[in-house]
Amino acid sequence: MKFALLLLLLARSVASLVTNLPIIDLGYVRQRATEYNTTSGLYIYRNVRYARPPTGELRFRKPQPPLPESAGTISDGSQYKSTICPQAVSPPTPSANGFSEDCLFLDVYVPSGVNSGDDVPVLAWIYGGGYTTGSKDDIYVNPVGLFRTAQKPMIFVALNYRITRTLSSLLERVGAFGWASPPGEKTVDPNVGLHDARAALQWIKDYIHKFGGNSADVTVFGESAGGGIIMHSITAYGGTRDPPLFQKAILQSPAFIPTKGNLQARDEEFKAFIAKANCSDLACLRRAPTQALMQANSFLTRHAATAGVGFSVVVDGDFVPDLPAKLLLEGRYHKSLTSVITANNQHEGGYFFPTSTGVTIADFNSFLSTLVPNMTSAGQDAVRALYLDPASHESIWERTTSLIADVEFDCNAQVVASSYAALRDNAFRYIFSVPPAKHGDDVPYSFYSNGDNPTDVLVVNTSVTSVLPHIITSLWRSTGRSKTY
Ligand SMILES: *[C@@H]1O[C@H](CO)[C@@H](O)[C@H](O)[C@H]1NC(C)=O
Ligand SMILES: *[C@@H]1O[C@H](CO)[C@@H](O)[C@H](O)[C@H]1NC(C)=O
Ligand SMILES: *[C@@H]1O[C@H](CO)[C@@H](O)[C@H](O)[C@H]1NC(C)=O
Ligand SMILES: *[C@@H]1O[C@H](CO)[C@@H](O)[C@H](O)[C@H]1NC(C)=O
Repeated sequence: MKFALLLLLLARSVASLVTNLPIIDLGYVRQRATEYNTTSGLYIYRNVRYARPPTGELRFRKPQPPLPESAGTISDGSQYKSTICPQAVSPPTPSANGFSEDCLFLDVYVPSGVNSGDDVPVLAWIYGGGYTTGSKDDIYVNPVGLFRTAQKPMIFVALNYRITRTLSSLLERVGAFGWASPPGEKTVDPNVGLHDARAALQWIKDYIHKFGGNSADVTVFGESAGGGIIMHSITAYGGTRDPPLFQKAILQSPAFIPTKGNLQARDEEFKAFIAKANCSDLACLRRAPTQALMQANSFLTRHAATAGVGFSVVVDGDFVPDLPAKLLLEGRYHKSLTSVITANNQHEGGYFFPTSTGVTIADFNSFLSTLVPNMTSAGQDAVRALYLDPASHESIWERTTSLIADVEFDCNAQVVASSYAALRDNAFRYIFSVPPAKHGDDVPYSFYSNGDNPTDVLVVNTSVTSVLPHIITSLWRSTGRSKTY
């Protein structure tokens, strides 16, 4: 009897725990926190929808606002088996639950005690992964170390955007300028992944106050493709309209490979893609099962390097009027940000050639022509004169990895910082040089949380663990409205 009573009480307390999770009315749905973590004191709202499922007729199209759920519907995000966008190659998070094209979701982390009206700063993470992989659920995405470092309350958001060449970048590029394209392409929106990230940031602007966040104090940070997306937001529409929906930004190794040229190769890739999906036109591609697209996509990802096309956003004459670095140099960018940090790892290019053995001049030349496919031979000679200068005594490995790093990451970070430094005294750079300091190596340090993150084991030098969380939270630590919890 006593035992039964105990069970009943236990059952009640579990039930009350669940129903006590806060519910926030977003208008189109009532969103309940998925969980409360008593250790970290964080309410976590997982899988908050910010756009309609981009499937069927909406495949390859810009994101559309979510449709209202039927009145009274409560979502706690746990009904979705997976919200990881389909990926091209070995994703950083092997997903037991697979992928879903219905992936335009974000997660919101709110400390207990923060409520609507508190207006705490917001920190939003945009993952990287070469525009082909990654998700808000990547294993390193646990902001608990950042919360500990922040000292003042904040809200953390991690957002998804479409990534694979199949579902975002490849077809976007093809639709770009209307060159030699199949008739159906006019209904393919360019750069949907960029529009996804913007829609998620618009969601933050519209709704984060309901969670206690300040939509006028949003810091975004992102690594690699994530940094590239931030760079594209800064140069969106050449600075003429739609300014960034954030005030401060940290661009870690912003990645953009200049692939404006070589349109012919893209066209060929598009045809190959349609054929690989066993289709003959775009209508078929829209009907094809996700799996068929992923299969075709995975083939093309391997094939693309030889096609010299690379993986990134295309100059579309609209959101992306030109290469972002060029836009920055021409002053065609949004000047609204109040602070900017741009970062690189010291040996970004070491990712491609981890060891110095066996790298040759042929590798250098091959990278030069694939990274910048349409460079003139005079341009190539100028690059060789700079990087292969015999007076500098660097190894071919150093020269080749420097070239890769400069083209893909370093110049981007430098030009963003110098563009903002020219405006106001609030632009900073850091170079992460804890060995091996390859591309991406600063990410586990950014999310380091003293053993709570699986990727903490990748942090080799524990004497510098507090540095990056401090830098990341520094942009708003001094400006957030103070409140004691
Ligand atoms: C780039 O080169 C290809 C051929 O290699 C050519 O067809 C294309 O027009 C060039 N694009 C630009 C923008 O110069
Ligand atoms: C296309 O058809 C071939 C032959 O039937 C099959 O082996 C392949 O898996 C199909 N590809 C896709 C993406 O469905
Ligand atoms: C709660 O958060 C801590 C710190 O991040 C983590 O170690 C723990 O696994 C979380 N607990 C649950 C049940 O997820
Ligand atoms: C760790 O970083 C500190 C600070 O940069 C440095 O002094 C120290 O030598 C590093 N330790 C190792 C084992 O690399």
